[in-house]
Amino acid sequence: MMKITLFGLFGSLMIYLFATAPEALPDQTAATAGRCNFEVTALFDGVNAINDAARSIYTKRIVGGGKEAGLKFGEDWQEPGVEKGPLPALFLRLTAARLETKPPQLGLYLGSDAPINKSNMFTEEQLVGFATVEADRAPVFSVSGQGRAIGMYPDVAGVAPCVDCHNDHEDSPKTDWKIGDVMGATTWTYPADAVSADDYFATLEAMFDSVEEAYQQYLDKTLGFAEPVTQAQEWPGAGLRILPEKAAFMAKVRAQAAPALLNAFLPHRPEKSEEMSPCVF
Ligand code: HEC
Repeated sequence: MMKITLFGLFGSLMIYLFATAPEALPDQTAATAGRCNFEVTALFDGVNAINDAARSIYTKRIVGGGKEAGLKFGEDWQEPGVEKGPLPALFLRLTAARLETKPPQLGLYLGSDAPINKSNMFTEEQLVGFATVEADRAPVFSVSGQGRAIGMYPDVAGVAPCVDCHNDHEDSPKTDWKIGDVMGATTWTYPADAVSADDYFATLEAMFDSVEEAYQQYLDKTLGFAEPVTQAQEWPGAGLRILPEKAAFMAKVRAQAAPALLNAFLPHRPEKSEEMSPCVF
């Protein structure tokens, strides 16, 4: 009797180990990945939080602070022999170009209805979405003719250098920008309407990496300046010809983006809390 029971147990164990268990392991990861999906709007919220933080820190601390120290920024910054850094819009374009080299297929574009550079003018279709972005000061989501998800976020004049520089620029069609104005829209595109948790976090990292690489391009450029620009591990005080190293710059971007990032990937909207939960446990 004992033998039969043991044999039975052993048999069940063998079936478990060799029939059930080996299948269960790969299944488990697949099931978890499949059950943790984020809507693309949560992905746009996340990458936009990173871009907002990088853009305001770059504009205020690097461009604003740099100018106080005699550093220059301009459209022609990449020309050989020109000792300048990228303007905020060009910093965003550098970031977008770095993103294009990475797998997530995330598109980033900054446009306006009153642009300094005419190639940043919205198309007729984009102007319709922008009218709502401007009125509501909130993002607008849609789908393009090619089936790509689109997220348009207000680009607000959050710091003084935004309005000063645009109002003074000879090519600006508008010269009465004020702090708090919606000056344009940051537009994101993505080829799907939902994204797995793995892809979600990989895309956030790709965005952080792209910002870092854009900043590194500015640091590299300054190495060739006739009057050297020092790099420091800590954020320098105002008015000094010193730039924070890449790690210090990125630490500030991550810290500033963190609260908005959390909002992006936790189901925080009370009216949607059940359905918005990205993972089913
Ligand atoms: C030192 C000058 C300068 C500063 C500071 C600056 N901009 Fe710009 N901005 C420009 C220039 C020049 C362009 C056009 C760049 C290009 O695409 O060739 C531009 C482009 C833009 C665009 C795209 C439409 C256009 O005008 O071509 C938007 C939107 C924009 N800036 C908003 C902002 C905001 C918001 C800030 C502050 C966070 C800011 N800018 C800070 C000079 C500046």
